[in-house]
Amino acid sequence: MKENILVIGSSGQIGTELLTELRKLAGDDHVIAADIKDPGTGGLFETLDVLDGHRLLSIVKKHRITQVYLLAALLSATAEKNMKLGWKLNMEGLFNVLDIARENGISKIFWPSSIAVFGPGTPRKNTPQHTIMDPSTVYGISKLAGERWCEYYFLRFGLDIRSIRYPGLIGYKSAPGGGTTDYAVHIFHEAVIRKRYECFLHENTMLPMMYMPDAIKATIDLMNAPAEKINIRSSYNVAGMSFSPLEIAAAIQKHIPEFECTYKPDYRQKIAESWPESIDDTAARNDWNWRPSYDLHSMTGDMIENISLLNEKKVTL
Ligand code: SER
Repeated sequence: MKENILVIGSSGQIGTELLTELRKLAGDDHVIAADIKDPGTGGLFETLDVLDGHRLLSIVKKHRITQVYLLAALLSATAEKNMKLGWKLNMEGLFNVLDIARENGISKIFWPSSIAVFGPGTPRKNTPQHTIMDPSTVYGISKLAGERWCEYYFLRFGLDIRSIRYPGLIGYKSAPGGGTTDYAVHIFHEAVIRKRYECFLHENTMLPMMYMPDAIKATIDLMNAPAEKINIRSSYNVAGMSFSPLEIAAAIQKHIPEFECTYKPDYRQKIAESWPESIDDTAARNDWNWRPSYDLHSMTGDMIENISLLNEKKVTL
C-alpha cells in the first residue's frame, strides 16, 4: 500500500526542505503539506492549526493519512517570550497527533526533539544518549515531556513514533524562526550581503549544529529503518559538527576575507550555555547506521555558494 504522508508545520525551517524530499520519494499526490497559512507554493496543502483536533482529524480522514511528520512548534527563544503558548502548542499539538494516530490506524509518526532537552546538570562534552536531563527552558521542558509521552504511547499502545534530538540546523533554502542557534544561519546571509554581522551569542559559545541535507537524511533514514532496529523510543542523539561563533566566522572569512563579526550576547546566551557543546550519537550510528556528511568547512563552502547564487538571481530579476 502506498503511504499518504501529512507534514504539519510544512512552511517552517525543516518542513520546507523535508516536504521537497518526501515529495520526491513518495510522489506529489501522496504528500500533503499543512500549516497555519498557505505559502502559495503549490502542491497539496491544507490550512491547519495543530491545536484544532477536529480539523486535524478531518484532514487525516480526507487524505487517508498513514504517516505524520509533526514539525509545528515554538522554538527556544520564542517560547521564553511566550511561556504558556510554547507549552500549549508543543504539548497539545503532540497529544492531538498521538491520539488521532492511535484511533485512526496511522502507522508511523515523526516528532522532532532537540538538544534543548539537556540542561545545566548535563555533561556538556560528548553528551551521552542517556544522562542527566534538567532542561531550564520552556522549549526544553516541553521537548523532554514530549519524549516521555512518545515512549509511553509506543510502550502502551504500540504506536510507531520515531524521533531525533536535532542540534541547531543550518540551511539556505528556508529561514529559521525563534531559535537560539539561528545565528548560524543569519551569519551567512549577512556575510554575503553586508560583509558584517552582530552575533547575539558570545564568541566562544560552542553548540552542536548540523547542515540541513544531513538533517533531512537522518530523518528519512530513521523513518525508513526497520522497526526492530529502533531501540530508542524517546529520541535519538545525532551529531553533525560543533563550533563557536568565532570558529564559524573564521570559516566564512576564508571565503569572504573582509567579513567582520562582532558579538553582543543577549538573553539567548543563557539558553545556549545550558545546552551541550557536543553530542555522542553512538546509538544512532549503531541502530540505523547514521553518519553525517558535512563538517564546518564543507557546509560553509556550500552555504556561501548557494546564498551568493540566490542573491545574484534577486539582483538580476
Ligand atoms: N534550534 C533550536 C533552537 O535553537 C534547538 O532545537 O531553539
